[in-house]
Amino acid sequence: MTNIIFRRASAADYPEIIALHKKNLFSNLSDIERQDGFLSIDISDPLLAAINEDVAVIVGVQEKVAIAYVCATTQEYSQQIPLLKYMMSLYPETMFQGQPLSNYRSFLYGPVCVAAAYRGTGILQGLFKALLAQVATQFNAGVAFVAKDNPRSLRAHTQKLGMEMLRDFEFNGKSYFILGFPVLPQSHS
Ligand SMILES: CC(C)(COP(=O)(O)OP(=O)(O)OC[C@H]1O[C@@H](n2cnc3c(N)ncnc32)[C@H](O)[C@@H]1OP(=O)(O)O)[C@@H](O)C(=O)NCCC(=O)NCCS
Repeated sequence: MTNIIFRRASAADYPEIIALHKKNLFSNLSDIERQDGFLSIDISDPLLAAINEDVAVIVGVQEKVAIAYVCATTQEYSQQIPLLKYMMSLYPETMFQGQPLSNYRSFLYGPVCVAAAYRGTGILQGLFKALLAQVATQFNAGVAFVAKDNPRSLRAHTQKLGMEMLRDFEFNGKSYFILGFPVLPQSHS
């Protein structure tokens, strides 16, 4: 895919990001569409603004149209989301590269979405690279969760982005995996 720019989102991007997000909510997809992934939690303009202020929203833009995005939040901000609060309570007993997750300065990765027409083209890697560059001075690890019944996302994040599957957990009767990844200092060469 050519001519895609990855950058920090601005307020002007929010309506397109929200439209993309809503289109990919579990409740708005058919069974067949859900096989290519889905999002579980809804989003709004103020929420997106708060996330972007907290850590970052990174957007992939082609000809001024947002075609993909990824969000990142601090553990403090994420306490207000029950699923994330529960997941963070598991950090002391969740090992990542020889240490419990609670020992890291980690952020929460997600939600993430690539517009259907752009999937499988490396956009996810572009988002991830831009996100890592954005957070490298603040954090040394990132944590994501993926629903067990979202195999496309699981494969993309473990095989394509190299995230490590750390453990599973259940919340509100649904099963998820916790994924971890290191955030390394960025070289500017
Ligand atoms: C999840 C998402 C961001 C991944 O980005 P992507 O561009 O689709 O990822 P890729 O196509 O590079 O990688 C997905 C891999 O899963 C494979 N795959 C596709 N459907 C699959 C399925 N049902 N089961 C297992 N693997 C599957 C693909 O073949 C590909 O692997 P390959 O390149 O080795 O063949 C994107 O699909 C998306 O936005 N989905 C909707 C929203 C979503 O699920 N967000 C994540 C919530 S945790």
